[in-house]
Amino acid sequence: MKRVLVLTGGGDCPGLNAVIRAIVKRAAKERDWEVVGSIQAFNGVLWEPTEIRILDERAVAGIHYMGGTIIETTNVGGPFAWPIKNKDGTITTVDRSDELIRKLQFMGIDAVINIGGDGSQRISQALFEKGLNIIGVPKTIDNDLSATDATFGFQTAVQIATEAVDKLVTTAASHNRVFILEVMGRDAGWIALHSAVAGGADICLIPEIPYDINVVVEKVNSRFTRDRGFAIIVIAEGAKSKNGTVSLREHEISGFKNARYGGVAALLREQLIAAGCRYDIRETVLGHLQRGGVPIAYDRVLATQYGVKAFELVLEEKFGHMVAYRHPNVISVPIIDAVSRYNTVDVNHSLVKTAMGIGISFGE
Ligand code: F6P
Repeated sequence: MKRVLVLTGGGDCPGLNAVIRAIVKRAAKERDWEVVGSIQAFNGVLWEPTEIRILDERAVAGIHYMGGTIIETTNVGGPFAWPIKNKDGTITTVDRSDELIRKLQFMGIDAVINIGGDGSQRISQALFEKGLNIIGVPKTIDNDLSATDATFGFQTAVQIATEAVDKLVTTAASHNRVFILEVMGRDAGWIALHSAVAGGADICLIPEIPYDINVVVEKVNSRFTRDRGFAIIVIAEGAKSKNGTVSLREHEISGFKNARYGGVAALLREQLIAAGCRYDIRETVLGHLQRGGVPIAYDRVLATQYGVKAFELVLEEKFGHMVAYRHPNVISVPIIDAVSRYNTVDVNHSLVKTAMGIGISFGE
């Protein structure tokens, strides 16, 4: 019996379970392959005792519509930066990647499928360079991975953010208010851009286009006549004003934990007031509602395509590759191509032009 280990890493994302189910169902057609899952990314392998779960067709039955991941995930640490708590309470990290590879050999693992975003695929690439038979599956609600047209979870997040805009429009119009909606997107403003267009927002502020607060105030003012009117601003968590800095809740700690974004909506409200905006302003932070819950049909389909293709890449021994979508095909690309740069919003992107064409301001 051959054995493939599946793991989910980074922030969770609608569609992870659909990928796991598709891998298991495709592997079941081969008869000589067994699928096992490592709990919380590579932690399940590195913990003592290990936490590995057999993933057979029974274990994955009916999970395609469920949010989250049945094998759990983590976006801190990892085999190259395993956190160790020192006696004085400080945290340092150690590289356990060689030990990980030895353990996987000992466990009879023939191949690994790592379902994760940018950080997870960087780990995949580094382990591949150390000789591990690994395949990547791109996952991110932020849509910030290169080398693929689409990542599952993104369209679900856009749908949730758009529904939030729709709801804010009715209350903003009723009260003649300005509403700021803070959505996820640390380096890439894709969720903000898509939901601003889909929801008919007036202003869209993204990390790629630093904003001028006076331009934002002008646009807000243009939406009011004799104090009657309303304005909707969608802002990505990583957006910043010209000469400003991003709004962080927590900074990186010891290289094993990501910086935590948040607070940009509240900051923007203060900036608007300081710049003379005299309307009633409210802010809403959508947060993890964008990541939880069921994937929409599009993401279930894409996730299923990715799962089947990922297992087929294992059969083809196309290690060091990641599944990707290039319309209309699911293909494979070297993992290194996906992680060598972020897929951020190009200011000349056609959707930016569309947004500008319907009068959405980027505050530039
Ligand atoms: O990478 C996806 C993402 O949703 C980012 O947009 C966000 O900043 C981050 O994850 C938040 O992750 P968590 O709060 O789970 O650490």
